[in-house]
Formats: sequence, structure tokens, C-alpha cells
Amino acid sequence: MVDLLLGLQWGDEGKGKIVDVLTKDYDIIARFQGGPNAGHTLEFDGIKHVLHTIPSGIFHKNAINIVGNGVVIDPVIFKKELDNLSQFDIDIASKLFISRKAHLILPTHRLLDAASEAAKGKAKIGSTLKGIGPTYMDKTGRNGMRVGDLEFDTWKEKYRALANKHEGMIDYYNVDIQYDLKELEEEFCEGIETLKKLTFIDSEQYMFDAMAEGKKILAEGAQGSLLDIDFGTYPYVTSSNTTAAGACTGLGVAPGKIGRVLGIFKAYTTRVGSGPFPTELFDEDGATMGRVGNEFGATTGRPRRCGWLDLVALKYAVQINGVTELMMMKADVLSGFDTIKVCTAYQYGGEEIDHLPYNIEDGNVSPVYTELHGWSQDLTKMTDAKDLPDTLNSYISFLEKELNVPIKIVSVGPDRKQTILR
Ligand code: GDP
Ligand code: IMO
Ligand code: MG
Repeated sequence: MVDLLLGLQWGDEGKGKIVDVLTKDYDIIARFQGGPNAGHTLEFDGIKHVLHTIPSGIFHKNAINIVGNGVVIDPVIFKKELDNLSQFDIDIASKLFISRKAHLILPTHRLLDAASEAAKGKAKIGSTLKGIGPTYMDKTGRNGMRVGDLEFDTWKEKYRALANKHEGMIDYYNVDIQYDLKELEEEFCEGIETLKKLTFIDSEQYMFDAMAEGKKILAEGAQGSLLDIDFGTYPYVTSSNTTAAGACTGLGVAPGKIGRVLGIFKAYTTRVGSGPFPTELFDEDGATMGRVGNEFGATTGRPRRCGWLDLVALKYAVQINGVTELMMMKADVLSGFDTIKVCTAYQYGGEEIDHLPYNIEDGNVSPVYTELHGWSQDLTKMTDAKDLPDTLNSYISFLEKELNVPIKIVSVGPDRKQTILR
């Protein structure tokens, strides 16, 4: 069976931390979508690690890590990630396998991302500029380059043809993008050489065999449900299916083989990049969440926008994914608020609604809040659910009742150990 771990908001819920915590119970950790737009943070033994493409089980000796066919890989960033890991005792060659069917991010994909965003002006998506959109466009447009192409001598010709096409497209955008393609290509080729040292697999076949042997697999989502290309706040989304169904296409797993669906959310909400965010705060409370929660993007360093928990959006994400259990992160960040607000409905078009409307645009939705009592205790040293303050327990019970799914983990700090099981 394959269990899924999915972000239920706009990303950065703490997926990396929880995958690391859970890896001891799994034989295989597999990424199924997204690419280096992801930044997954893990913390243990006083060291903080940020992973972009490599699954978050990589630090555990027991687990194989797979980059599945649904992922897009930038060899340049991938090499940097491997270089960062080289100081740790990890047998990468036997622990990390790459799907031949995963698509490659070319330097010109990154340039196209930048050109497209520049051309959009104020309407820009706020992309991480890692080339994600253009690479998935080439995938679905049936022009892309895949990892498996690198096993054939013809890959450079394929590369050249695609890069030439991209140069024409960059010109079409007619924006001021400075670049030295020769330099970028040198870096790209170095990345390719590093990538080629790893084992390429037909990951769907590998997964069938592993499942037949009764191996336990955890699929690690990237981004979050509200950034899903179909169900997110389009067009301010990423270019892959971040929701449960994405794990089936991104790994080659049949729907009937999906087991638990672990949904992860912050006790409040954050978003990085542009797009609607009904519960966003522009006041002292929002600033406090950002400061205490250290809310800066793990990939771009941009400050994350902060606001109260949006239960309307969270319910939607729970439904779309069929979440069977929940994990609430960063409860510690809310310590000290006298009142905790939760958005339980929207004011939309003159009426109160409790579902996500087709078009949330800035200003056409306003949150209707339910207020609960806050807690003042420092949670960061707590290790047992029975120590949690009553008002936090009331908050958790309120959410469980609204969402109709149990909250099994409460996270009270970035470290592996700051994880409370319920
Ligand atoms: P991901 O993309 O979902 O893996 O999440 P990120 O790593 O981008 O962002 C989550 C951030 O919150 C990281 O800096 C984590 O170290 C941190 N973090 C995770 N869980 C907790 C928690 O319970 N409390 C606090 N204070 N920080 C946490
Ligand atoms: P993890 O896995 C938060 C956001 C970007 C932008 C939009 C499109 O760390 O949770 P893209 O680069 O995909 O073209 O950007 O999606 N975004 C993320 N926000 N966490 C992420 O990943 C994100 N990956 C993309 O900020 O708004
Ligand atoms: Mg992140």
C-alpha cells in the first residue's frame, strides 16, 4: 500500500519535517510531483536541512528514496542538493533512485519562467522562477526532455532543438531578460553528469514490485492543495496536481493501492507569492505570526503572507484528497494570542457561503470568523498530549468536529523531537 502525505494549504505546512519523522515506519519515500519550487525543511541534532527535489526520507538508513515520474528535475539544483548532502554519511548511490520518465528543467525553462512573469507585470503569479510552468508545458505539449533521454547519445541534439525553440519564445515575450546561455549550459551539463551517476529506474515497475513484496511506501507531496493546477486558486497555482490523484499519475500507483491519506496544515495560514488569501492579516497579529513562525520561503527567502486558519478552504482540501488523518503544525506559534480566530464561512456576493467559490479575487470574499480562547503556555518543550493546554485542546476538538477527521499529530517546533502524537 502507498500512504500519502499532502499539504492542505498553500504549501510550507511542514511536510519535510513530518516525512522525516515518519520515515522510520516506511521502506520507501517517493516524491510524485513538483520540482525545486519546493523547499522542505528538516531539523534534527541542531542542524537544519532544506531539500528541494530529494525526498525527505534521505537521512534515514532504512529507506529508499524515489524521485517519481511526475517530478520535474533541474540538474543544476539537484547537483547542489547532492553537494550539500555529501558532508553527511549517506550512501546516495544505494538510497536514491530517479524515474526515467521524470522531465528535465532546462536553463531556458527558467528563463521562460522569468520572461513570462515579467510580461505579466502586476498580474504575475509570484512563481519561484525555477522553470516549473514552462517544463510542465513542454511535458503536456509533448516536447519535453526526460531523464531517460540521457541514456542515449542523442540527448544533446534533443536539448539543442528544445533550447533553440525556447530562445525564440523568450524573444517573443519582448522583455528585458539578461542571460549568458553558454554559462548556463556549462552548469547544466555539469548537473547532468552528476545526475547520470545515479541509478535511473522505471519507478512504476519498481513500485509494483515493492508493493508485491509488502513494502511500505510513503508518497511525499510538494506544494499544497490550494496550489493544485485544477483545484487551487487558479491561475495563482503551480503547474502540477498537488492533490491525492497526483500521486497516482506521478508514481504509477493504482487508486485502490492508496492507503492512509495524511493531511498536514498549519494552525494558521500562510501563502508565498501572489493570489487570493481571504484570511490574510495586514495587522500586528499577522506580523507576529510571521515573526514567531519565522515565515520566510525555504526556496526563495521571500516573506510569507500570514493569516488565521481558513476552515472553508481546509474543508475543501480534506474533501478533495479524502484525508483520513490530520497533522496540525506550528501550534507553538499561536501561543500568546488571547483570541484565536477561525474562518468558518465567507461573505460572498451578499450572502454567507461555506464553500470555495469559483473565483476568489482580492476583495470579493471576506472571512466570517468564529473566535476561540487562546493559550499562553510555551509548547515547545512539551512532548506528551496530556500536557497540552485546555484551550489548545478545545481548538483541536473544534477543528476535528468541523473537519470530521482526527488530528493525530500536533507539532510544537521545527525539530524532529517537537512532535506530539495523539
Ligand atoms: P514544507 O515545504 O511543507 O516542507 O515546509 P517548509 O519547510 O517550507 O516550511 C515549514 C517551516 O516551519 C520550516 O522552517 C520548518 O522548520 C518549520 N516548522 C515545521 N514545523 C514547525 C512547528 O511545529 N513549529 C515551528 N515553530 N516551526 C515549524
Ligand atoms: P513546498 O513544497 C509554497 C508557489 C509560488 C507561486 C506559485 C507558483 O515547499 O510547500 P511555481 O514556482 O510553481 O511556478 O510557483 O506557487 N509555490 C509554493 N509556495 N511552497 C511551495 O512548495 C511552493 N511551490 C510553489 O510561490 O505563488
Ligand atoms: Mg516549503
